[in-house]
Amino acid sequence: MTTISLARGVPAAELLPVEELADCAREVLRREGSTLLNYGPVAGYTPLREWVAARHGVEVSRVVLTPGSLPGLVVLFQVLLAAGRHPLVEAPSYDRPLGILDTLGVQPAAVPLTDDGLELGALERELAARRPSFLYAIPTFQNPSGRTYTEDVRRELIELARVHDLLLLEDDPYRLVHFGGEPPPTLFELAAGDGVVYASSFSKVVAPGLRVGYLIVPPELVGAVEERAVATYLSPAVSLQAALYEFIARGGLEPNLARVRTGIGARRDATLAALDEHLGGAATWSRPDGGYFVWLDLADGVSADDVADRAHEAGVAVVKGSDFFSRGAGGHSSLRLAYSFVSTRELGDGIARLAAAIPAPAAV
Ligand SMILES: Cc1ncc(COP(=O)(O)O)c(C=O)c1O
Repeated sequence: MTTISLARGVPAAELLPVEELADCAREVLRREGSTLLNYGPVAGYTPLREWVAARHGVEVSRVVLTPGSLPGLVVLFQVLLAAGRHPLVEAPSYDRPLGILDTLGVQPAAVPLTDDGLELGALERELAARRPSFLYAIPTFQNPSGRTYTEDVRRELIELARVHDLLLLEDDPYRLVHFGGEPPPTLFELAAGDGVVYASSFSKVVAPGLRVGYLIVPPELVGAVEERAVATYLSPAVSLQAALYEFIARGGLEPNLARVRTGIGARRDATLAALDEHLGGAATWSRPDGGYFVWLDLADGVSADDVADRAHEAGVAVVKGSDFFSRGAGGHSSLRLAYSFVSTRELGDGIARLAAAIPAPAAV
């Protein structure tokens, strides 16, 4: 039996614009190959930086293109930690930044997430108790929960951050993958760029293998970020940035986005339908309006770690909720399901297999 992966948060193969990018890569290498095949400027390929700057209405000097957004986050964490700042994260949060902080020997403060966004009362208590000085947050179609902060929560968060001198690091790779209306404005927009570092990526809207992400950094941090980026990876892959820019300049982005929204939206629908069919009564789950993930809460007392192991034996891979809490301090009855990668038929089969791996209430 082939394992069905509800673990991989990547676009389905059929959604990757392979031929278009191949044409673009050939064209830019033919045109600018001797420059693009050398090390490039650490902040990246200038035309793409300019495009990002125009899209977000910022000075181009504040845009640092990174080899995927994750290395950008690593660089930023290092800069902020070196400046003596202490992190705060959402609980749950994207597992890789949590792992990076752990590797750097830092245990972040954490604030629970509700259906409306960060729990602001808990945030205030944490701000008073542990005095964290930057928040790593994914306010839109969050990984892992699929949740989105309401506009009210965003505004209140910005106000609290201003009062407590809390720098906001907004990680926003899923915003454009919406299935209904547009999500609320970014923290970066609502705060007019003040006190917010913005990170995003082309991984979830074009292709993860391009490794193109970006940071929009406050002017006073640009020098430190670029210096740390050079020390960490020397140069981003400007050849791939140039191929991506060519793809955008040819008008490829919007049609690709439409394809991604339709393809992943159909997968979201199939996932919710299969959950209603197979898991009603055994769990509750988020109903995301965008992004790649559903968060599943099992009935009290059911161990998600055991269910994930049994599901794996039954041929479906899911991720344990505890992976998304710093040092596994939570999420033991939750699971993350990624619906972006496999077909709608496999989603249905995978969720049926998962349901069979969940013990009946009487057996708990
Ligand atoms: C919230 C979030 N940030 C960043 C990333 C990493 O993106 P990139 O491929 O740009 O490094 C991911 C990938 O899953 C993610 O979910």
